[in-house]
Amino acid sequence: MSTKTLPFSRETLAAILEKHPTPFHLYDEASIRRNARALAEAFSWNKGFREYFAVKATPNPYLLKILSKEGFGADCSSLPELVLAERVGVVGEHVMFTSNDTPPEEFQKAKQLGAIINLDDISHIPVLEACAGLLETICFRYNPGPLKKGNVIIGHPEEAKYGFTREQLFEGYRILRDRGVKRFGIHTMVASNELDPMYFIETAEILFNLVTEISRELNIRFDFVNIGGGVGIPYRPEEAPVDLDVVSQGIRGRYEEIVEGHGCGPLDLYMECGRFITGPYGYLVARVRHIKKTYKNFAGLDACMADLMRPAMYGAYHHITVIGKEDERPDVMYDVTGSLCENNDKFAIDRMLPKLQSDDILVIHDTGAHGHAMGFNYNGKLRSAELLLRENGTVEQIRRAETLEDHFATLDFERLGSFPV
Ligand SMILES: Cc1ncc(COP(=O)(O)O)c(C=O)c1O
Repeated sequence: MSTKTLPFSRETLAAILEKHPTPFHLYDEASIRRNARALAEAFSWNKGFREYFAVKATPNPYLLKILSKEGFGADCSSLPELVLAERVGVVGEHVMFTSNDTPPEEFQKAKQLGAIINLDDISHIPVLEACAGLLETICFRYNPGPLKKGNVIIGHPEEAKYGFTREQLFEGYRILRDRGVKRFGIHTMVASNELDPMYFIETAEILFNLVTEISRELNIRFDFVNIGGGVGIPYRPEEAPVDLDVVSQGIRGRYEEIVEGHGCGPLDLYMECGRFITGPYGYLVARVRHIKKTYKNFAGLDACMADLMRPAMYGAYHHITVIGKEDERPDVMYDVTGSLCENNDKFAIDRMLPKLQSDDILVIHDTGAHGHAMGFNYNGKLRSAELLLRENGTVEQIRRAETLEDHFATLDFERLGSFPV
């Protein structure tokens, strides 16, 4: 069970609402820091442990700066994410570049930053060599195919476009060895929002076994294993959070048995979680605009799927708290919607809530990862602001809401007048 609480009082929220119009995402710095420290502490048995925060989850430089202060690196997947890390001052081997279908300029930027490049395919070895040159450290992304089951977010590994097959790994490391590469890493990422600790222990076991086999066959030494992200969070109140100590101690046991048992240590352990780091500590705050009653009850908010895609994309559950009505009985069933002309623009379907009215403030929980970041501008919808509730209780805007000017910034209206039709 997880209790769905809020990190601010009703009065604090009222004060925030006086200054900041809804909708907005609000992140809770104190909890993000506490959680970051708990992760580092759980894996402190591994001297080289590092979490590379998956920038795509919440690409906000203020949050990246906080996480960097906590010792995290950045897992980047595109040129803008690399530039964002650089702007925050996260460079060198604190950047992991895990991309796919990668254009040359992204390899070049990653190399310029001194990032660890995690190749997605064996055919990228000559591409990297041609456009940027090989690096001292190179990592490959492994796709275990039928050895692992997937889920609704990430799909089945065999059908996923990511990573090397087992045979390609052996071949790829052999090529790198023969080209003089000295430091090697191995990565996989086949889970998303996984709540079963065993999943990560088994993932580490698969990678540890591969390290020992490849090291023996090719006579090379691995520096690190990156078990990816994908650690889930309890979106539903009845779900339990992942017990980090169970994951860590399970991995430690496999490490001692497999890695140390085969003389392949020391090996640094890396993770690249996004959701687990910030997901539970973000809240989408929105206001009820209209209550509509037809064949169902609809509560239309001033936020829409441009602010949070997960329910529409994955049928994902996000808990909702109605401010000021926390103690009222949830005895009315609503579809909680946005204003997009898409019928799946719904934050909740058939959700029992206290009776709602216009201007009620709803807080949608667990939007701190893959929330604002996934937004889009379809229907001309503008994305909301992002606010940060600081440890000292103050609130700072860390991204303003999009404006009409932002929306039209790529159009040249000047030329429209003289455009012949
Ligand atoms: C390569 C890679 N690493 C890390 C992540 C972060 O996943 P999560 O936020 O579920 O931990 C993702 C998510 O899409 C990913 O594709």
